[in-house]
Order: sequence, then C-alpha cells, then structure tokens
Amino acid sequence: MYEDRIRNPQLRSRILSAEEAAAYIQDGMTVGISGFTRAGDAKAVPMALAERAQRTGERLRINLWTGASVAEEVDRVLADAGVIARRLPFQSESHMRACINRGDVMYVDQHLGEMGEWIRAGELGRLDVAILEAVAITEDGCIVPSTSVGNSPTFAQIADRIVVELNVHQPESLEGMHDVFIPGPRPHRQPIPLCQVDQRIGTPYIPVKPDKIVGIVVTDRDDHFVEIAPADADTKRMAEHLVDFFEHEVRRGRLPKTLYPLQSGVGAVANAVLSGLAASPLQDLEMYSEVLQDGAFDLFDAGKLRFASSCSITLTPERARRVMNDLPAYRRHLILRPQEISNHPEVIRRLGVIAMNTALEVDIYGNVNSTHVGGTEIVNGIGGSGDFARNALLSVFFTKSTAKGGRVSSIVPMVAHVDHTEHDVDIVVTEQGLADLRGLAPRERARALIERCAHPAYRDALAAYFAAACRRGGQTPHLIEQALSWHARYRNAGTMLAPTRQEV
Ligand code: COA
Repeated sequence: MYEDRIRNPQLRSRILSAEEAAAYIQDGMTVGISGFTRAGDAKAVPMALAERAQRTGERLRINLWTGASVAEEVDRVLADAGVIARRLPFQSESHMRACINRGDVMYVDQHLGEMGEWIRAGELGRLDVAILEAVAITEDGCIVPSTSVGNSPTFAQIADRIVVELNVHQPESLEGMHDVFIPGPRPHRQPIPLCQVDQRIGTPYIPVKPDKIVGIVVTDRDDHFVEIAPADADTKRMAEHLVDFFEHEVRRGRLPKTLYPLQSGVGAVANAVLSGLAASPLQDLEMYSEVLQDGAFDLFDAGKLRFASSCSITLTPERARRVMNDLPAYRRHLILRPQEISNHPEVIRRLGVIAMNTALEVDIYGNVNSTHVGGTEIVNGIGGSGDFARNALLSVFFTKSTAKGGRVSSIVPMVAHVDHTEHDVDIVVTEQGLADLRGLAPRERARALIERCAHPAYRDALAAYFAAACRRGGQTPHLIEQALSWHARYRNAGTMLAPTRQEV
C-alpha cells in the first residue's frame, strides 16, 4: 500500500505517471537524479524521458547530474536516446562510455565529495528538476531515501522542482538507516561534528520544502545491480599481502589491532580483496566508505566488521536479496550518509581512514592511472578515489600486475594519465607483492615497485628503463622520449612485451 508510505496527507494527491512527471523536463534543462553506484537510482522517470525522446523525435538534450554511477537501464537508455549533453560526476556504463569517448557527451569526471559544494555555490548552474527515489515521505513532506543518499540532499535543497519516485519494492526498514547532514554556508562554517564512524549528526530523512514536490511516481522495481567477478588466485594473494602488512604494522605499534576505518573502492578487485580480509585474524573492523559491496557483507557475516558508514549499498543480485531480507539485523551496524560527508576530507583525515582503491596502471614512481586506458579512453571515472587517497592516513592501491592476458603490464615507466600523484600513494599491492612507499624518494620507490609489484615478464625491461634513466639523472629520472613507448607498442602491436631477438 503506497498510501501508507506517503505520510503527508496533502502530498497523497500529487501522484503522477512517469510520463506525466517526465513532461516537466524540457530541452536544455539540468536534471539531478538520485543514485550512487547503481543503488537508489531514480528509475521510471528517466526511462520515460528516453522513451519520449525516441517516440517524438523532439530535440531533447539535458545535463544529467547524479550521485555516482546509475543502473545500466538508466544511463544506457538515456545514452541510446541521445538525450544527454553533459554528464556529471561518475558513470560506469558501456554505452554512456562510448558516447563520452566519441565526444558526443561532455563528461565532467569529478571528485564525488566535492560536487555538493560546487552545486550549492552555483558553480554548475541551476538545477531545474530533481528526481529522487524514496521509500517513504514523512508527515512533514521530507524524503526518506532508499539504498543510497548520494547528492540527493543538495539536489533537494537547490532544485526548482522535485519529483519523488516512491519505490514500494525497497524495504520500509531502510527508514532510520540514513543520516543526512549538509555543511553550513560560508563564511563562518562550523566543523563537521563527526568523530566516530557510528555517530549520527543529522536527520534520518532529506529535508524538503513540500511545495517543491510537483509529483510522486509510484514504482515497484529492484535496484539494477550487476554481477561482479568473484575472487581469483590473484586477488586472494593481494588480500594475503595486505593482511601480512596490516599485521606487521600492528606488531610495530603503528596501527591498533582493530586497524583504522577502512574504505574500499568500486570494482571486482577491491571487492575481492575486502572479502579476503574475512579469512584474516583481524577483528572488530570498521568501515568509513562511500560504497559497500558484497565484500563488506562478507566481513559482517564473518563477524569481523563492527560498524560500517557508507553512502550506498551496492550488491550482486543474490546478495541483495539476502541482505534486504535480513535488513533488521544489519541496520544496527550501518549508516548511510550523503557523499559529501562519506567523502569529506575533514572527516577522512580525522578518522585516519585506510583507503583502498584500484588502479588500471601504476608507474615506477607510484603515480596512478585509475581512469583512462592508453591515456585517452575513459573507463569509469575517478569517483571518490581522489577524495580518499589524498586525505587518508594510509592510501593503498591494488592492481593485478598484468591485464589483457599478460599483454599489458600494469606497472609502466610512466602512466599515460594521472589521477593520483605519487604524493598520494603510500602502498601498492599486486599479486606479486606489496611495496611500502612511505618515506621513500622517487629512486627508492622505483626499486621497490619494480622488485615487489611488477610481473616477472616485465621486471627486467622496467629495471633496464630505470637504470638508463638514472644514468641520465634527475630527482625522478625518465627517458622522456621512451616513457610512453610501452603504451605505443600496445596500441600498435597489441602487447607491451618487447619483441624478442628473433622477431626484431
Ligand atoms: N590497461 C588496459 N586495460 C586494463 C588495464 C590496463 N592497464 N588494467 C585493467 N584493464 C581492464 C581490464 O582488462 C578489465 O577490462 P575487461 O572488463 O574488458 O576485462 C577492466 O579494465 C577492469 O579491470 P578489472 O581488473 O576487472 O578491475 P576492476 O573491476 O576492479 O576495475 C577500475 C578497476 C580501475 C576500472 C575500477 O576500480 C575503477 O573504476 N576505479 C576508479 C574509481 C574508483 O576508484 N572509485 C573508488 C571509490 S568508489
């Protein structure tokens, strides 16, 4: 009964169809939709918009803002309908990616924690319509979000109009799990009063002026979660290297036995490594993260995770069913926050977060490329990795030492695109080993990365490059004319492996 979920009597009369709600969106508008890493997305109205554009052939190009990536069914249909002119701040869908790489969509790949600030400061222009998924509307007309909070509180604050997608498929027991706090205006902003992972500092709903709500669309749809590659021998070895490192740091008295709050990024590798911690002797862990994937729930189920603060819950379909059925048991250990708070530099630094993100490639000095294959083609985006890497107590990056069946080395002389500079990269882990780069000068970092992290098939070539560069000299030695030759070789010959004598 959706009526029970709309507790404000005046708003009960504002039920619209998705098509009627989509009629509020016109060519040239900016639309903000809820959704963070495919969780809690607005679903029906964006689809109705795409359908309208295809059916009528009218000119309809909008700027789309989200929390982070949204479901394939949303980004894909909008990309296919040619509706998106500009997209912020993160995506992970193949059709949208193709539009971006063709230059048809202007993609602003932005630190997730920063976007709310930019919006409220007016730096991105006005927001015409916000479409926000909810599990309920309170007596005062405020919005109870679903499986993510994302940028929705800021969208609700500044949008001219709000459409609520009331999703009756999402369990009502999600209510009470959210903690919504928006930093105050400048000047004279006060500190964010968040000193512990499990602390509540805001409201369990998104404050809204009910007059702004022009319509409520009732939906009954699951989040469109995706399968994620399971752990393999390589990711298990990475988890073992990391656990060895944590235990070493505990023995040296540099980390407490419970560690500091963990952040774990998107993707198969980060998820598998986190799952791997479930088999470790570590206990009473906490997470302060922007996304909780299956790996976090493996830790909960293994009794290793005491509490998790996140911005979203993003699970594989089978795991989502189990977690949603068992939500009352998990909710005592979980808080969902706006991305501005989950990714806030002030809080990350105060808590001493241990950030764990994934690189596509790392260069011999520790600069990380997480986003652009070959330096040009975007995969997903920087997401929150920069928010965490820059401000964490310990910034860890994972990557398998090779990709594409061994034809690509993930440790290269120079990365073809830089997302995280060497100054924000403390630890690099591949299945080959772990390089602790803290306190090392560039030449020492290069030796550690080549010896501990590079794949044996590429180690000699990297060492030869580094030796030749050192002969030329410099604080950070390079053979500048050869630095990207590995990428050029992959582009031209389909492999980074140097030709053998016979092939030359
Ligand atoms: N060159 C070319 N392709 C590479 C590569 C490299 N050096 N390294 C990896 N790839 C390819 C893989 O082959 C794979 O391609 P496929 O899907 O065609 O098989 C793809 O990139 C993903 O790699 P995978 O090893 O499966 O890793 P993943 O699922 O863990 O994703 C990132 C890795 C980097 C794409 C992902 O973590 C990401 O988008 N990170 C940036 C955002 C972020 O860190 N957010 C964190 C806070 S939420």
